[in-house]
Amino acid sequence: MSSTPETPTVRCGVIGYGGAFNMGRQHLNEMKRAGMTPVAVCEIDAARLDVAKVDFPGIATFSTVDAMLAESDAQVLAIITPHDTHAPLAIQCLKAGRHVICEKPFAIGTDACDLVIDAATATGAIVTTYHNRHWDGWILRAVEKILGPEKVIGDVYKIRLSSGSRGQPRDWWRSDFGKSGGVMYDWGVHLLEYALQLLPGAKLTEVTGFARRGYWASKAPPEQAWTKNPIEDEGRFVARFDTGTWVELTISSLDRNAPNMIEVVGTEGVYAINWAGWELWKQEGGVTTVQSGKHYESQGYKLYENVFAHLTRGEPLVITPQWARRCIHIIDLAMRSAAAGHAVAPKYE
Ligand SMILES: NC(=O)c1ccc[n+]([C@@H]2O[C@H](COP(=O)([O-])OP(=O)(O)OC[C@H]3O[C@@H](n4cnc5c(N)ncnc54)[C@H](O)[C@@H]3O)[C@@H](O)[C@H]2O)c1
Repeated sequence: MSSTPETPTVRCGVIGYGGAFNMGRQHLNEMKRAGMTPVAVCEIDAARLDVAKVDFPGIATFSTVDAMLAESDAQVLAIITPHDTHAPLAIQCLKAGRHVICEKPFAIGTDACDLVIDAATATGAIVTTYHNRHWDGWILRAVEKILGPEKVIGDVYKIRLSSGSRGQPRDWWRSDFGKSGGVMYDWGVHLLEYALQLLPGAKLTEVTGFARRGYWASKAPPEQAWTKNPIEDEGRFVARFDTGTWVELTISSLDRNAPNMIEVVGTEGVYAINWAGWELWKQEGGVTTVQSGKHYESQGYKLYENVFAHLTRGEPLVITPQWARRCIHIIDLAMRSAAAGHAVAPKYE
């Protein structure tokens, strides 16, 4: 959609225009598609700022957030930086009266999420997290088939999710525990967000976490900075809900690839999702049937359509800060449990 004379302009910008996945460009293009006007880019790497200038001719560029907040009138700012910077930058922008979209993960740890939410509440600005994968084609279809009238696998009682394959972590900030928050905070938060969509109304009761660390750091060349404070080789948790359901999530760089990224297990079958498509496995009267198919098209651009509709027409925010905090809370509890060696109870359901 685009702005009309009746819809107010929403000026937007991004903090972080990194080259790993060109996410700054993706955010600005999706903001524009939703009806917002890209006006500013902040990036500490001068070479990446040059890329932004080519991608968005005439856009204002800044090398510090202080300068951007002082000189730009952008109303909505997306934070697309390493994970440890999300909460401090979000709070800085919220205190300056800007609306904030934090890339996933919302922040490292429940307490950091609470501080960001408090800052938003104090200023009346909105804060949300870029859970664009909420609209991935595979989960849109799974929600429809599993929770809709067909209820293709009966009652869901467990969800298994996994990501990773055997291999030494790359020499980048994601492999540094201090900068990334740990192995769960990258793909883990996407996977968990899928699972929570499939458990509406379920309240979290406890989390048991496990972690293995140190193997790859001992093998990697010591000059690689991440080896000083490495992410876990594997992180795993089981989250238990009051409905009797549980979620098992594993992120590993030691184990072999799991056959499917997501397996939703119900009383009447298994709905499996992998990159190539979905499979519905059933067994009735000793006869096994397997249906399979392609995923729907992903619609991650809907996140900014929703943010724009929320800001201009008061439509409800889909990814509320509380929803984003719930994912972080479970990961936080998993890591606390792994360190403590026993299950831990939640602060938030
Ligand atoms: N939702 C998704 O599908 C998706 C995909 C990829 C990455 N991400 C997320 O996006 C974020 C960034 O990841 P990436 O892969 O783009 O990393 P990246 O390393 O490519 O980019 C990060 C950029 O932030 C810049 N930066 C760091 N501190 C800054 C500061 N204070 N001010 C301005 N710029 C700063 C760095 O110079 C770098 O260019 C992470 O939170 C990551 O999890 C999300």
